[in-house]
Amino acid sequence: MPGIIGPSDYSQEPPRHPSLRINAKEPFNAEPPRPALISSYVTPIDLFYKRNHGPIPIVDDIERYCVTICGLIENSKQLYMHDIWKLPKYNVTATLQCAGNRRTAMSKARTVKGVGWDVAALGNAVWGGAKLADVLELVGIPKLTSTTKSGGKHVEFVSIDKCKEENGGPYKGSIPLSQATNPAADVLLAYEMNGETLNRDHGYPLRVIVPGVIGARSVKWLDSINLIKEECQGFFMQKDYKMFPPSVNWDNIDWSTRKPLMDFPVQCAICSLEDVNVAKHGKVTISGYAVSGGGRGIERVDVSVDGGKTWMEASRYQKAGIPYIADDISSDKWAWVFFEVTVDIPHSAEIVAKAVDSAANIQPENVEVIWNLRGVLNTSWHRVQVRLGHSNL
Ligand code: MTE
Repeated sequence: MPGIIGPSDYSQEPPRHPSLRINAKEPFNAEPPRPALISSYVTPIDLFYKRNHGPIPIVDDIERYCVTICGLIENSKQLYMHDIWKLPKYNVTATLQCAGNRRTAMSKARTVKGVGWDVAALGNAVWGGAKLADVLELVGIPKLTSTTKSGGKHVEFVSIDKCKEENGGPYKGSIPLSQATNPAADVLLAYEMNGETLNRDHGYPLRVIVPGVIGARSVKWLDSINLIKEECQGFFMQKDYKMFPPSVNWDNIDWSTRKPLMDFPVQCAICSLEDVNVAKHGKVTISGYAVSGGGRGIERVDVSVDGGKTWMEASRYQKAGIPYIADDISSDKWAWVFFEVTVDIPHSAEIVAKAVDSAANIQPENVEVIWNLRGVLNTSWHRVQVRLGHSNL
């Protein structure tokens, strides 16, 4: 592809913030410390988690960079950045969460395969770009289409990075055409993050943002958009990012029996405390994030200081001065909410948080019931231990 290359080694990686917790160096996978994650509603770019499957691509000539739209359409088209900049620009505040978030905790129940993540494999950003629905109109696909005249039902996003899992080929993923052409789904071809030009780690010059869906479908460093009949057959759609029951192991797995993961289930995590803490007797503020998929808001966050026997409701907020109401027009529908509650810790305790979304979905109590061999979607109640002693918490 002219203008952009996918290197085959890690000698030209971008600089990264020193406070990131590195979970894998090559490819680079890192997340911020828990307290830093909730220090601002919009996550600073430097601290936003980075999830890669190969070396970071390099743009050598932005003028020559273009995205090819092809497949089951009448006329293929090449779109240059100036074509995309010409389309109406939208700013969508959306939380991106990796399906492997909280995998480390799942692997404590039983070993799982995959990069170990604590609770910060997610971040909330203001993504700026063109709506995919507008881009597809340029190749003659009207809004709210579910099948093209030539039978295209899925939109495949192909990158330029070289991934081991694809035998050196690019990262790919797809979403249904009905979602891609629905302006209300807010699927973007983003060129900005938090008002700045997208940086290399996050997909420069152009990436897909699929709000409400696991991060894996938000393909970075876009090379082509392919209209296809069946969903994408790439590794990350067919042999990864699927959820199996606890009975499936590496000897009896049949990948074809499950669908690729899309919408994220309801999730929350405490970020003001580590897994194990020492606190002084008295009041402690418990805070963290809660988020759900599919544009569902957060109806409630419950916190317990006695391992889940009794509960109190935490306050929820997105923006200072604007009351948060789940699914209200004033709330950012694709974004997380922060929660906070001040509790008395009378003795050493297990502190638990669980969220309920606006469809009344609730997090499962234990990790065991959702354990799966790839360690995806650990949305079990988040538990941290507090021991009373001498501390400065
Ligand atoms: N796109 C490409 N081209 N290559 C990748 O490795 N990782 C995916 C997705 N898009 C990936 C990609 C995964 S699994 C996630 S969770 C998000 O990007 C992470 O995006 P971020 O690194 O900007 O946080």
